[in-house]
Amino acid sequence: MTEFLLKSDIAEIVERMGDDAQKFAGKTVLLTGGRGFLGRYFMEVFGALNHGLLKDPVKLIALDNMITAGKEGAIIPDLPNVTFVNHDVTKDFEWEGDLDYIIHAAGIASPYYYRAYPLETLEVAITGTRKMLELAEAQDARFTFFSSSEIYGDPDPKHVPMAESYRGNVSCQGPRACYDESKRVGETLCYIFHNTHGTHTNTIRPFNVFGPGMQETDYRVLPNFASRIKGGLPLHVYGTGNQTRTFCYITDAIIGFLSVIIKGVAGEAYNIGNPDPEISMVELVQTIEKVSAQKVEYDVVEYPDSYPADEPNRRAPDIRKARVQLGFNPTVGIDEGLERFLDWSDTTYTGIQ
Ligand SMILES: NC(=O)c1ccc[n+]([C@@H]2O[C@H](COP(=O)([O-])OP(=O)(O)OC[C@H]3O[C@@H](n4cnc5c(N)ncnc54)[C@H](O)[C@@H]3O)[C@@H](O)[C@H]2O)c1
Repeated sequence: MTEFLLKSDIAEIVERMGDDAQKFAGKTVLLTGGRGFLGRYFMEVFGALNHGLLKDPVKLIALDNMITAGKEGAIIPDLPNVTFVNHDVTKDFEWEGDLDYIIHAAGIASPYYYRAYPLETLEVAITGTRKMLELAEAQDARFTFFSSSEIYGDPDPKHVPMAESYRGNVSCQGPRACYDESKRVGETLCYIFHNTHGTHTNTIRPFNVFGPGMQETDYRVLPNFASRIKGGLPLHVYGTGNQTRTFCYITDAIIGFLSVIIKGVAGEAYNIGNPDPEISMVELVQTIEKVSAQKVEYDVVEYPDSYPADEPNRRAPDIRKARVQLGFNPTVGIDEGLERFLDWSDTTYTGIQ
């Protein structure tokens, strides 16, 4: 186990998987984006399953080209039946053996990085998804694409919380378009492969997942806040501070993702997040203050050049589809999740932001 994740969280995920874990016994899984925030959890969870919990071990091959993996991703853990390959998924990947599952989690997820790498962001979600779908079709593997809640764009308030049927309100030319639009094309590719080639595809739309293991220099809101707290600096709330989000703790999210991977209905997209509470960024600061029992100073500031403005005003998931079809039920509330995250970041972050 690397120091970058909590052992107790991995144990919680494995325990909550219950008998579903046996679906992976004896199977081969290809994971892309294996050294990113979510990928590192998948690697540790599959490694943990191979400590005698499965009837036959699961073989995991994890790919990543390290473009945004950072120092946390650079340390490759030594886990049973888990192999890491440095590979850019926009290039062909040759694989001789069988594949049962493909989890396509490679992406450029942080707004800071997709502003810096717009073309790479497009390519990984379009060309990378197509290459992985071709492999899934050839191998008759179940394919899961990590899309994003960003495909809903800046929603019409009538459609908040957003159900999977909401078509969204996205700009094709804004500073966020490279991410939002490429994820939408990735979903269209899944739709085409499912409908015209019969490939078993699922799409996951995660809503702001957080937890230990987030890179300090990832620049998403919670690592940013946690780093500034560690450095004794006032928090910077961008824009108006009234924009809302929901936050899903990593153990709930991974359980939801694995449910889609194992049990998702072919061709379907699923929102995975924690719908409660939907809070503004200023309320998030106040919640951090309450949980950490310390005064937290903050300033509401303009978007810095390095961070794309034009962000959605509201975002909250309707998760009824995942609840009904997959039994998904997030259990870690925001206070508990923030407590675990802030305790961890306090001992891990350096306060450099
Ligand atoms: N974490 C969230 O809250 C969240 C929310 C919405 C969507 N997602 C999506 O889920 C996926 C995983 O998210 P994350 O938080 O782990 O992101 P992350 O940025 O931490 O990790 C993504 C990984 O993909 C790798 N990568 C990028 N381009 C690649 C390429 N061409 N070839 C191989 N590897 C490549 C990066 O090096 C990085 O290690 C992403 O596709 C992201 O867009 C995540």
